[in-house]
Amino acid sequence: MSGRVRTAVLLSGRGSNMKALVAAARRQDFPAEIALVLSDKPQAPGLEAAREAGVPAEAVDFRRFSGRPAFEAELDLRLRAAGVELVCLAGFMRILSASFVERWEGRILNIHPSLLPDLRGLNTHDRALAEGRAEHGCTVHYVSAELDAGPTIAMARVPVLPGDDPDSLAARVLVEEHRIYPAALEAVARTLRVS
Ligand code: GRF
Repeated sequence: MSGRVRTAVLLSGRGSNMKALVAAARRQDFPAEIALVLSDKPQAPGLEAAREAGVPAEAVDFRRFSGRPAFEAELDLRLRAAGVELVCLAGFMRILSASFVERWEGRILNIHPSLLPDLRGLNTHDRALAEGRAEHGCTVHYVSAELDAGPTIAMARVPVLPGDDPDSLAARVLVEEHRIYPAALEAVARTLRVS
């Protein structure tokens, strides 16, 4: 395929990273376009935010399926129907199966709010504070079957400051998320067009 890399964003929540990706993709020379936003949660505010930004956005309500295989089959169908080549997870709160990840190998990115391999999993800001870390941050990585473990594409560090609580720390990290996720998507999309 040629032209811009058709990219989908999968989310479960507010969608601030999705908005950052959509904003970056408005640039004429950006190598990817956000063609579709999908959410496992019909009430996710990110769906409405995507529509407001002019991006097709659909729910694939996990509760309507018999289980993960049926849910993922539908996801796969929607992605392929939209001609999607690359998937960005952005606050998507479901673990994808090894078989789904293999089918999309090298074509799924995720943003995780920690300096991987440190602090995989949930509640990273609370844990960074509880463990007395001096530094925290975020990582964009390829998704592999093992959770939060695929190869790193981009990383940004922020200091943990005296008086930080999980919200102030999350806000500082989020500024960096919105900077590095578009940069990582840009880099990956360029490699897809070169290879
Ligand atoms: C971000 O902190 C991201 O790193 C994590 O979930 C959060 C999603 O936020 N995976 P948003 O929905 O993009 O605002």
